[in-house]
Amino acid sequence: MIKKGIILAGGSGTRLSPLTKAVNKQLLPVNDKPMIFYPLSVMMLANIKNILLIVNPGQINSFKSLLGNGSRFGVNINYKIQEKPKGLPEAFILGEKFISGDNVALILGDNFFYGQNLTKTLEKSSAHTNGARIFLKDVSNPENYGVAKLKKNKIQNIVEKPKTFISNKAITGLYFFDKNVCKFSKELKPSKRGELEITDLLKKYKKLNKLKFELIGRGAIWSDAGKIKDLNNISNYVKSVEEVQNIKIACLEEISLMKNWINKKNINENIKFYGNCEYSNYLKKL
Ligand code: DAU
Repeated sequence: MIKKGIILAGGSGTRLSPLTKAVNKQLLPVNDKPMIFYPLSVMMLANIKNILLIVNPGQINSFKSLLGNGSRFGVNINYKIQEKPKGLPEAFILGEKFISGDNVALILGDNFFYGQNLTKTLEKSSAHTNGARIFLKDVSNPENYGVAKLKKNKIQNIVEKPKTFISNKAITGLYFFDKNVCKFSKELKPSKRGELEITDLLKKYKKLNKLKFELIGRGAIWSDAGKIKDLNNISNYVKSVEEVQNIKIACLEEISLMKNWINKKNINENIKFYGNCEYSNYLKKL
């Protein structure tokens, strides 16, 4: 079982400037909630309660005033500062003490997942403890992502932001790793753009024949919020689903209550915390 998870919520967010000049990307609104609620909900749906949130220097207090130590949602949130965005695998170097030789999941703070069967897939994936597991999604713009080329249902090749087409299967920002991840991350060298690359880390697992994948089908949606267009698309999607279905996506209290991690008393405390707002009205209905 994977019981620990890291949410990487640092980065410079330059592609979203000026929105990100004063506010961290992961605190920007996605319809009615801060972006960070969405990756946190994915961790919770995967039954991961022990979470390390990696943030930029100077922004830790904003995250703490929103999420605290996680007890309001029945989880345990620890914080760690990343001085500079030196690449995704740095999460496992900064998080080595938190991981302490266990298996661990990683989700990027700007990634959005939603859809049928996703919870089952997440639960299934977090039950594995050997090797690495990634989630692939067909996209129309693979040059913007890490991509995987499949052959005979196996991963044949992995490339970060390929300049020439090799596959339309994007590697989404959710990864499950076994206990070797810290050791492998420390062996990585920065790429030409000066960052440790997640694709180089995945290649190490592939070499050992220990890289597995799940395909995210047409019934589920994935997007990162890398660009303004993506951010608006995700936000509009959440708005439509929430209005049409009269539910909320990524309501942390709802997930926690469903899992019996918190009780009605906790929900009432959270209603007080948020104050008189639409989100609180939803909590009242729970
Ligand atoms: O979203 C999926 C893609 O994410 C993958 O397909 C790529 O393989 C992977 O490299 C990554 O690509 P991006 O270009 O989207 O990465 P970006 O630099 O935008 O960082 C993603 C998130 O992680 C973002 O919310 C900021 C955070 N981050 C990033 C870096 C490099 C950190 O917190 N620290 C970092 O050092």
